[in-house]
Amino acid sequence: GTLVHAVSLTETEYIQDALLGVDEAGVIAFVEKEVPSGQVEERLQALGWTGADVQVVRMRTGEFLMPGLIDTHTHAPQFLNLGYGQQYELLDWLDNLTFPAESKFADPQYARRTYEGVVERVISAGTTTCCWYGTIHLTTKLLAAICHRKGQRAFVGKCNMDRNSAPYYQEESAQKSLVDTEDYVKFVQQHCDSPFLPSSAVSYKRRTGPTSLVQPILTPRFAISCSDELMQGLGEMLDKDEHLRLQTHLAENPAEVEFARSLYPSLPSYAAAYDQFRLLRHNTILAHCVLLSHDEMTLIRQRESGISHCPNSNFNLRSGVARVADMLDMGIKVGLGTDNSGGLALGILSAIRSASTASKTIVFSERDAPRKPTSNGAATEIRSADGITRPSGFFASSHLPVETLFYLATLGGAQLCDLEDRIGNFVVGKEFDALLVQTGQASEEEAKGWAGGVSKDRLGENVSGKSVEDELERALSGAKDDGVVPIGPNPALLVEPDESIERVFEKFLFTGDDRNLRAVFVRGRQIGGVGSV
Ligand code: GUN
Ligand code: FE
Repeated sequence: GTLVHAVSLTETEYIQDALLGVDEAGVIAFVEKEVPSGQVEERLQALGWTGADVQVVRMRTGEFLMPGLIDTHTHAPQFLNLGYGQQYELLDWLDNLTFPAESKFADPQYARRTYEGVVERVISAGTTTCCWYGTIHLTTKLLAAICHRKGQRAFVGKCNMDRNSAPYYQEESAQKSLVDTEDYVKFVQQHCDSPFLPSSAVSYKRRTGPTSLVQPILTPRFAISCSDELMQGLGEMLDKDEHLRLQTHLAENPAEVEFARSLYPSLPSYAAAYDQFRLLRHNTILAHCVLLSHDEMTLIRQRESGISHCPNSNFNLRSGVARVADMLDMGIKVGLGTDNSGGLALGILSAIRSASTASKTIVFSERDAPRKPTSNGAATEIRSADGITRPSGFFASSHLPVETLFYLATLGGAQLCDLEDRIGNFVVGKEFDALLVQTGQASEEEAKGWAGGVSKDRLGENVSGKSVEDELERALSGAKDDGVVPIGPNPALLVEPDESIERVFEKFLFTGDDRNLRAVFVRGRQIGGVGSV
């Protein structure tokens, strides 16, 4: 069938008549192009793929495969607050809504039952990899265990918070927070390991680093809620394990930035507070970054940390509009996050749309007062996160195009998670994390007899027993009825039989939803979707 994937920040590749092989370890073994459907068996034989254990899945008309969506920032214990609390900005929202909700997760039964439903819904939305925040409690182990059982690829973090919060939702000391964190990390590493890695998966074994789908990630909530002693201890944990990731919030909202800066009067910036404890590393994920200075962006680029862009939340909590184009122009890695329940939608499709709107907002607001080019000694060319050298200011010259948004949602997220060599697009040797998308599109022949958006039967008939529309159609045109109904039957997407894959794909990104996801795969295994293969 058809494959769609990002190959760079500016290029989407569409491969029609593709034959993609996934081995028993879930690793992509081959991607053959231009294989007509009649030649599939022949080609498989030539590749040595024969026998009863080879399963062939033929995609139907209108279907395509794309890489799984990567949510680089969200909070599992906040989902029950989704959509509630329009009146607040960040700090009041945390105190009045979020911390009370998270404090309930001290109860393991409540935690287990809630996390079960949350992870299920997020998988259904097409999120194959998720960077989760839990709470300060060790019940966060349940969240990791549930992701593991359901087969989602996940980085799951127990929050660290030992200051500036309400007494009912704060750890009793830096020491206690660190001891619990070590306990938590050990648990996830030991109990959420992938059970089955066949020896045939040679490509898989050659990699370095942990192979588990579910891994722990250090999660100091933000500088405001973590003492120096705590952040120092977390930095020491990172020093001992180069594969251990860290996620936190940075420069999201004006009042938050002011508070954080007041805690570090001698430091030049908010980002510098993390940096002094060596928390900015190549596998650190920084959420929001709406209010970064140029120097902070430079520091983040130097440390090779990545930024999780959470536009839904930035709009909803009135935080502002992150300057994603500038980040990309500086060569910083960027991915997308939902930041629920700061954000409002379960999945990353919504983040793609908001990221587009956010970038258009910037272009719009600067139409009358264009920014001055930052040419003062700045390089005229820069290497972007995808390794391609582009003229400086390339991304800031316009809003983010569809190709870039798609990259951020897939390969960009993979880069943030330090998993670029494992997931993000359909390259031989990477693991098969994918969405099988059904669009309802069909060939003209198949489309004859489609029900259309609303069945004619339900629209009522006139007194003579004839449909009013039948009469009108005849009266208004002499054309012969070709039997083709233009609107496909999928309720989530309006497509015509003859639309190009490029158009249908863009429409899916901007209007599709989980009704279009026939199957959700992680490491070759179906873990969700409305149908089966
Ligand atoms: N900053 C610190 N904690 C949070 C949180 O839970 N959500 C958001 N959006 N920002 C934060
Ligand atoms: Fe957040």
